[in-house]
Amino acid sequence: MKWLLVFTMGLILIVSSASAGIVGSKHDLSTSGAITDKSTDQDRVCVFCHTPHNANPAVPLWNREMSAATFTPYTGLDLDHTQWTSGTGPNEVSKLCLSCHDGTVAVNSLINNANPTMGSGNELDATGLLVSSANIGTDFSNDHPISFDYTQAQATDGELVDIATVKSTSNIEFFGSGQTNMECSSCHDVHEYGATADMQPFLNESKAASNLCLKCHVK
Ligand code: HEC
Ligand code: HEC
Ligand code: HEC
Ligand code: HEC
Repeated sequence: MKWLLVFTMGLILIVSSASAGIVGSKHDLSTSGAITDKSTDQDRVCVFCHTPHNANPAVPLWNREMSAATFTPYTGLDLDHTQWTSGTGPNEVSKLCLSCHDGTVAVNSLINNANPTMGSGNELDATGLLVSSANIGTDFSNDHPISFDYTQAQATDGELVDIATVKSTSNIEFFGSGQTNMECSSCHDVHEYGATADMQPFLNESKAASNLCLKCHVK
């Protein structure tokens, strides 16, 4: 029977080394989550961001109150893309992240299902606002630019990898109707914290040896 034990343990290893997913990660705000101030009464993981009906915005079936803040864009040294003017941006897909990460909307402020009860005093304050270093605020003048057309920058900036190459050689994603906009989720995978330190926090590509940066920048 010893072989059976070895075989079973091997299977368990294979299963646990596969993609870890969102359950039990920092984006699992339910009772099974990884943060200290996780919910004390809601065991559903997806409900903090998604709902099957009456979602708003409709895509991707969003279940959260959105931020009403005005965001300041990164202005740059020598930018070859047009950035949003204060008040109009960022694009909606990045605003999904900002419905928690700008620190102005409580993480438990949901559209459907009663707002879950959260802990407080660590990552969250008593009203459910994100207060840890994960609160990146509304001023992005000191953050990597987002919410612009990558191909517009690439057309005049000789030191950017061709978008077709970025797409075919990496897990980096682009958004918008033409699938050319760079957003938070170009670099981040909201559902996967990363099995190894190089893939954390929630990265689409390893940051080892600046691999992530070199997927787009010819430097
Ligand atoms: C912390 C917020 C958050 C939680 C929790 C979350 N998602 Fe998402 N999900 C997003 C965002 C943001 C997008 C938009 C696409 C992107 O950013 O990559 C998305 C997109 C999706 C999509 C469409 C795109 C794709 O990746 O296939 C599916 C399907 C999805 N989520 C399923 C789920 C399920 C199932 C759960 C629960 C097990 C879940 N999500 C939990 C934030 C979340
Ligand atoms: C439902 C609220 C919510 C939404 C929506 C959300 N996050 Fe988070 N995020 C959190 C919380 C809570 C943490 C844990 C904060 C901590 O540990 O201090 C976190 C952590 C992170 C971290 C890791 C920070 C660290 O300190 O390890 C990253 C990166 C991140 N989020 C990116 C995103 C991106 C990108 C999106 C959109 C695609 C997004 N998040 C959407 C709530 C959210
Ligand atoms: C160009 C790629 C890129 C883009 C675009 C990007 N991030 Fe990040 N983000 C990273 C990397 C890489 C790290 C890890 C930094 C480190 O380990 O030094 C990170 C870290 C973070 C953290 C953890 C910060 C901390 O101090 O705890 C949060 C939260 C986060 N990102 C959210 C976002 C959100 C929200 C957006 C969109 C508004 C976004 N990111 C856009 C690459 C990116
Ligand atoms: C998905 C592609 C992509 C990734 C990944 C990426 N960048 Fe960028 N980055 C861009 C684009 C596009 C611009 C805007 C270029 C322009 O408009 O001229 C930019 C702008 C910048 C700028 C500002 C340039 C200026 O003129 O002010 C710096 C600095 C930078 N990136 C560094 C990094 C670093 C460091 C990383 C890794 C942590 C990284 N980037 C990851 C695409 C990317």
